[in-house]
Amino acid sequence: MILRRLFWVLVAVVIACSSCSSSSSVGSDLERRVDELVAQMTLDEKVAQMSGDSGLLLTEGDTLWNVPGVERLGVPPFKMADGPRGLGPVEGATTFPVGIARSASWKPGIERRVGAAMGRELRAAGGTILLAPTINILRHPSWGRSQETYGEDVHLISRMGVAFVQGVQENALANPKHYAANSIEDTRFEVDVKIDERTLREIYLKHFRAAVLEGQAASVMSAYNSVNGQFCGENEHLIRDILKGDWGFDGFVLSDWVFGTQSTLGSALNGLDIEMPIARVYGELLLAAVQDGAFPEAVIDDAVRRMVRKKLQYRLGQPSGLDESVIGSDEHMAIAREAAVEGSVLLKNASSALPLETGALQRIAVVGILANTPNTGDNGSSNTMPAFVVTPLQGIEEAVGETVVVDHIAKDVLDGDDLAAIGAADAVVVVTGLTAEDEGEGLIGAGDRLDLDLSPEREALIRDAAGANPRTIVVLEGGGAITMGNWLAEVEALLMVWYPGQMGGYAIADLLFGDANPSGKLPITFPTGLDQLPPFDNVSLKVTYDYFHGYRYLDRNGATPEFPFGFGLSYTTFSVDNLQASQATAMEGDVVTFSVDVTNTGSAAGAEVVQLYATYPGSAVERSERELKGFVKVMLDSGESEAVEISLPVNDLAYYDVTESAWALEGLEHAIHVGTSSRDLPLSTSLSVAAQAPVLVF
Ligand code: BGC
Repeated sequence: MILRRLFWVLVAVVIACSSCSSSSSVGSDLERRVDELVAQMTLDEKVAQMSGDSGLLLTEGDTLWNVPGVERLGVPPFKMADGPRGLGPVEGATTFPVGIARSASWKPGIERRVGAAMGRELRAAGGTILLAPTINILRHPSWGRSQETYGEDVHLISRMGVAFVQGVQENALANPKHYAANSIEDTRFEVDVKIDERTLREIYLKHFRAAVLEGQAASVMSAYNSVNGQFCGENEHLIRDILKGDWGFDGFVLSDWVFGTQSTLGSALNGLDIEMPIARVYGELLLAAVQDGAFPEAVIDDAVRRMVRKKLQYRLGQPSGLDESVIGSDEHMAIAREAAVEGSVLLKNASSALPLETGALQRIAVVGILANTPNTGDNGSSNTMPAFVVTPLQGIEEAVGETVVVDHIAKDVLDGDDLAAIGAADAVVVVTGLTAEDEGEGLIGAGDRLDLDLSPEREALIRDAAGANPRTIVVLEGGGAITMGNWLAEVEALLMVWYPGQMGGYAIADLLFGDANPSGKLPITFPTGLDQLPPFDNVSLKVTYDYFHGYRYLDRNGATPEFPFGFGLSYTTFSVDNLQASQATAMEGDVVTFSVDVTNTGSAAGAEVVQLYATYPGSAVERSERELKGFVKVMLDSGESEAVEISLPVNDLAYYDVTESAWALEGLEHAIHVGTSSRDLPLSTSLSVAAQAPVLVF
C-alpha cells in the first residue's frame, strides 16, 4: 500500500514537472490563467472534458464531434471535423485535391493556403479542431489511405505537414495523425508494428516532431495499431517519453475513433488526454479510479491543463469573425484549382503530344466512364460533400467551346463503333484510374490495394484506344502508385492527376490545353512491380518495419523504377548549373546554403523543382544511399534564369544513436547532389562536417 502511494506521488511529481517546463515557453500569464481555471473545476468537470460525447456516429444536424468544456467557467467545448481533403461533414465545403496530390506540388506555400482555407471553413461552421493532416509515412503504396498522405519521404512530409498545420492554425487547431507507424488498413485495429528505435526516430517520427515543434501543432491523434507491443493510445514510449518528454509538446493527444483506446489507467497514465468519440475507458471508469485513490488527480489536471491552454491560446471561446460565406467560397475554389494544377504530374509526353492546341483540332475523343464521373477520393473518414464536382469532360468541353467537337465515349469496354470514332479523332484523351471502389480507409472504405495494376478492363480500355489512335493521352486518377508495364509504351502522353478535388476538371483542362504547364513531381516511387518494394502484409497481426522503403529501398537494391521519386516533366525544359555552397566545412548548428542557377531553356513559361540529396560515405551505421534534404520550386519565363537557394541545417544530417539515446552528428565528407529528381542529379559538391561526439541536436 505504502509502495503504491509512493509510486503515485512520483508519477504526480513527474507529470506536474513536465507541465511546468512546457508552460514556461508559452507565457506565465497564460499559465496563471490556465491554473486558475483548472483549480475551479470539480473532478467530474475535469474528467468529462477527457472524452467526446457525441455518440458513436454523428447524427443528422449534428455535424461536428463534441468534447465538452465547462460552461459555467466560460471554457468552450472542442468541436471537431475531418479532415484531410476538406471539411467532411459540412455540405458545400470546398473539396481540395487529396494530400498526395498536394504533396506532388512540392510547394509548401500552397499547402499552407489549403490548410488556412480549411481552417477558415471549419471555424465558420462552428468547429475548432480539424482532424488533419495525415502525416503517416507511405511505407508501401498498397496502403488504402495512401491518398491522404504526403508520400514516402520524411523531409517532404515534414515540409508539407508543417505548412498545413500553420495554415489551419491561423484560425483553428490542427491534429496531425495517426501517431505512429499507421501504414496498413485491413489490420489497423490489431496489428503490432515492431520497429527498432533508430528507424522509429528517423523514419516514422521525424515529421511528427516537425509538425509539433516547428508547426506548433496544438494536438496530435494517436493511431489504432500498437508499436513494439503497446497500443499507440497508451504507448508510454511514444506519448510520454518522446512526444511530451523529448519534444516538450504542450498540447494534447486524442485517440483515434472507437477502437483507439484499450485501458483506463494505461491510457491516462501514459498521456492520452482525450478519448474519442465517446467515453468507453474514460468517463465513469476514470472518475471512479481517481475517487477510490487508484489513480492520481494530478494526471487528470495535466490533461485538462493542456486542453485549456490551447483553448485560451487560440481564443476558441471568442467569435471567429468568419461566417458561412467562406464555405465553398470563390477564393477557396481558386486555391483548390491551383493546388490541382500544381500537383498534377506529367509522366510521359512523347512527340510533344501535349499540350493540345485547340486551333489545330477539329475533333477530340474523350474516353472512359471516369471522364464524366466525380472522383474525389475514398469513402472513408476523409470523404466530403462538395456542392458540385467539375469532371474532366466538363473542364475539356468548357475549354474548347464551340470550336472543337468533343466526342464523349462514356464506356470502359469499347466496341467497333467506338474504335472507329476514336480513330477519326485528332486526339484522344482517356480518363481512367482508381476509385473509392479500389482503395480507401478500412471498414468504411475499400481498404488496402494488394495489386498495383489497373483493373484488366481499364488496362484494355487504354490499349484499345491507343490501338485505334496513336495520339492517345491518358489522364490517370488514383491515390498512389499504379503499375503500368502493360500499357505505358502504347500511349503518347500520361498525366497523373490523383484525386484532384472538385475543381479538378478545370485544372486538367488548363494543363491539357497549355493554359498551365505541369510542374508536379512524384512524392512516391512508381515501381515497375510489387517485386521492387518491401513486403506489404495486411494479414499478420505482427509486422516488422525496418529502415528502408520507397526510393531508399530501391536505391539500396539497385532497382530501376518506372518513375522515380521526385520525377515529373514539363512542356518546357530547364538547365541547372553552377552549384555553390556557402561553406565547404560545417559544424553542429550551422545552416549551409546551396545555390544553383536554374534556366528555362524551352519556349513556355514553367516551374521546376530543384532537389538536394545528401549522402553519408563511411557512416558508422547503415544509411540510405541518398536522402532528400531540401528543395525549392521556381517559376520562370521562357529564357529566364534565376539563382535559387536551398538551406541545409547540418543537424539534419544526424542519425539517432541508440547506444547514447541521442542524435549523433558524424564527421563525414558528405556528397551533396542537386538536380530535378532522385535519379537525375547532375550537380555535386561535398560538405565536410567536423566530427562530433553524439550530441542531443533535437
Ligand atoms: C480515422 C481518423 C478519423 C476518425 C474520425 C477514424 O476512423 O482513422 O483518421 O479522423 O475516424 O472520423
